[in-house]
Amino acid sequence: MTKIKPNDYVRAAPSQDQPPASTNHPEFKINLSLNESPYPPSPQVVEAFQQSVGTLNRYPNYFSADIRKVLGKKYKLDDTRIMCAAGSEQILAYISRTYIGQGDEVIYPRYGFMVYRFNIAMEGAIPVAIDHDENFVIVVDNILNSVTDKTRLVFLDNPGNPTGTYLPYTEIKRLRKELPQHILLVLDAAYAEFVTEIDYDAGFKLVDEYENVIVTRTLSKLYGLAGLRVGWAYSTPEVINTLMHLKGGYNVSKPAQTAGTAAILDNKYALECRDKCRIGINYLTQELRAMELNVTDSVCNFIMLHFPDRNQMKNCDNFLKDHSIKVGPLGLYNLKKTLRITVGTNDENQIFINVMKKFMKINT
Ligand SMILES: Cc1ncc(COP(=O)(O)O)c(C=O)c1O
Repeated sequence: MTKIKPNDYVRAAPSQDQPPASTNHPEFKINLSLNESPYPPSPQVVEAFQQSVGTLNRYPNYFSADIRKVLGKKYKLDDTRIMCAAGSEQILAYISRTYIGQGDEVIYPRYGFMVYRFNIAMEGAIPVAIDHDENFVIVVDNILNSVTDKTRLVFLDNPGNPTGTYLPYTEIKRLRKELPQHILLVLDAAYAEFVTEIDYDAGFKLVDEYENVIVTRTLSKLYGLAGLRVGWAYSTPEVINTLMHLKGGYNVSKPAQTAGTAAILDNKYALECRDKCRIGINYLTQELRAMELNVTDSVCNFIMLHFPDRNQMKNCDNFLKDHSIKVGPLGLYNLKKTLRITVGTNDENQIFINVMKKFMKINT
């Protein structure tokens, strides 16, 4: 028998065999490893979700019409230029599938969302990583200086994962202005809802001003719906209509659409969660710095914690695991001395800090 062979690009792509931390380690009491919201969805969302159960024999709305309508209203966007999918990861994959191929170059931040690199490799394109500055902030000139005539696309997570840092809107505007116009700029704003800094903007205005900009967003983070899988994107009619060709079937389930719509409408709850997360991030940052540990300033719901060396990072990770706490080592990003810590509830944050104090006592 001759076995069917997979496409070479697929074999060349980095393996994603390892399940993410939360599914891999159900035994941990506190999971601070995946940038999820520590808070459950709002009661209104739970009620909407439960109501959808009675009609599960019916397919969902093919175009996620209700979510798009409420998003359009909330952000003052033309909802015909919004598309939804099963998580923004799915939209990022559609973008790669649609616009890049073998030999094309794609620029992305070296410490940017891991999935870009997987998707670029999957299409047989060439990933071009750009360096951050010493504070893990993206350097626009490094992007501009990496452009060649093979560059088709730039992925930019703003704010960034795992860095937690952001670029002010003036820099994003400059990037779009100075990038060759035919290059598609993907602004991945998965954590935008957490940012309160006044010089930040997710970039919808740029979509209206330029041909080649797409902004991606998600309900997985602040809205606490990571388990339901709802992401969305805003771009020109051409880009959105093209990506819709890849959508395939009914990819956003009925409970996801119903609960997602309710989540966007419950702005008060979302803002409460945002403020609690910010208080938690400030608390973690201050407490860890008081232990003389190095923490990168973050505008997101997670922080990067840097150790003097790899051994100490590993010892700390193991010590936390022994206390039933899972955090995110960043070896896959080649940040071998760093742990990424997602904010927890107040109680979880306090337990984490107490365990860290114990660790520091033993190890310094
Ligand atoms: C920067 C960034 N973009 C996109 C995503 C994907 O989110 P989702 O597929 O849950 O919408 C994540 C998830 O961690 C992320 O960190």
